[in-house]
Amino acid sequence: MILVTGGAGYIGAHVAVELMNRGDAVLILDNLCNSSRTTVQRIAKVVGREPGFIHADVRNRRALDNVFKEYPIEAVVHCAGLKAVGESVREPLRYFETNVSGSVTLCQAMADAGVFKLVFSSSATVYGDCAQMPIAETCPTGQPTNPYGQSKLMAEHVMRSMAASDGRWSVGLLRYFNPIGAHFSGQLGETPTQTPNNLLPYLLQVANRERDVLRIFGSDYPTPDGTGIRDYVHVMDLAEGHLRAMEFLREQTGVHIWNLGTGRGYSVLEVVSAFERVTGVTVPLAFEPRRPGDIARCWADPGKAAGQLGWTARHGLERMLQDAWRWQCLNFPRIEPREVVLRSIEQG
Ligand code: NAD
Ligand code: UD1
Repeated sequence: MILVTGGAGYIGAHVAVELMNRGDAVLILDNLCNSSRTTVQRIAKVVGREPGFIHADVRNRRALDNVFKEYPIEAVVHCAGLKAVGESVREPLRYFETNVSGSVTLCQAMADAGVFKLVFSSSATVYGDCAQMPIAETCPTGQPTNPYGQSKLMAEHVMRSMAASDGRWSVGLLRYFNPIGAHFSGQLGETPTQTPNNLLPYLLQVANRERDVLRIFGSDYPTPDGTGIRDYVHVMDLAEGHLRAMEFLREQTGVHIWNLGTGRGYSVLEVVSAFERVTGVTVPLAFEPRRPGDIARCWADPGKAAGQLGWTARHGLERMLQDAWRWQCLNFPRIEPREVVLRSIEQG
């Protein structure tokens, strides 16, 4: 049985689905601070059987001990965490407590229970403003400019030191680039509980006429059209990457780092025009100054994951946008979406 912390969240839910589709038994542990039980029901609907669910906090050592005592956990995928950059600046202690202390508590409980296989949701944010593109795992980690990024890098350091001290650990640090998209069925996707910070969820709400305009942060970057470039990766590809990492860690000990990205970057304007092309929906835009802490360019060298895990992202930008829009239309209907959804589904 695989324990997925944060499995009611955006990425964890997709990972849980893919693990279950592969035949694994899955136990989700989540405190639901940024998700809801509905997602667990949605996972059951998509897969055709229910995952286990424990409503608990990764900082709660007693709850973790009980989980490891009661269930035959062989490995953990650790997605639980807080991820809003702006909030992390306002509430740094909460971020360090959850993302760093929560990870420490989990690792301690795992070690005491004799469970030494761990896959961790890390982020390309740990590279900071990398001078070299594409970014390979050998690039030095930078100095993240906000507590969220710092907490992710600290959690990585914790896991590296831990594995260096005890050869029984098999740890995969997955550095996600920019996960977007949704499950192909339209039944699972991202459900922002606050004003979204990230491009795609914000764009979807503008397209859905829940917000007036997409603000483009910066049009004077040293990129071909002046807007920021990122490596967007389909959440289903990302989920597949976790499965490959788990397989690898079955045989290998130590710490292994993999970038999960496509290797191709798109600017904000390219994303918007691809979205308009795929959905037929116009997105009103407003150009604004750069967002503090943003970098101009960021895309992965995914060669290590391809070589070691046999993993490459299979879905392109248009497919990611189609799937995200299908999820939005089916679950947050505002504008008359029927034709658009049907068109997306036919094309998908
Ligand atoms: P999410 O907020 O949708 O999911 C996180 C889940 O963790 C939520 O269900 C939340 O309720 C749960 N959680 C938070 N604190 C918890 C705690 N103390 N105990 C138990 N559960 C807790 O976020 P997501 O996008 O699915 O991200 C998952 C992980 O991936 C996070 O660690 C995030 O930092 C990392 N990550 C995400 C992105 C991204 O763009 N989404 C990029 C890089 C890394
Ligand atoms: C953000 C986080 C990063 C995190 C990553 C994935 C910041 C500063 N960084 O990075 O720590 O790891 O998400 O969760 O928040 N954009 C707009 N308008 C918007 C939103 C975004 O123009 O309303 C632009 C941004 O300036 C950027 C691109 O879109 O050029 C992507 O932004 P976003 O989705 O927030 O991801 P990152 O900036 O890569």
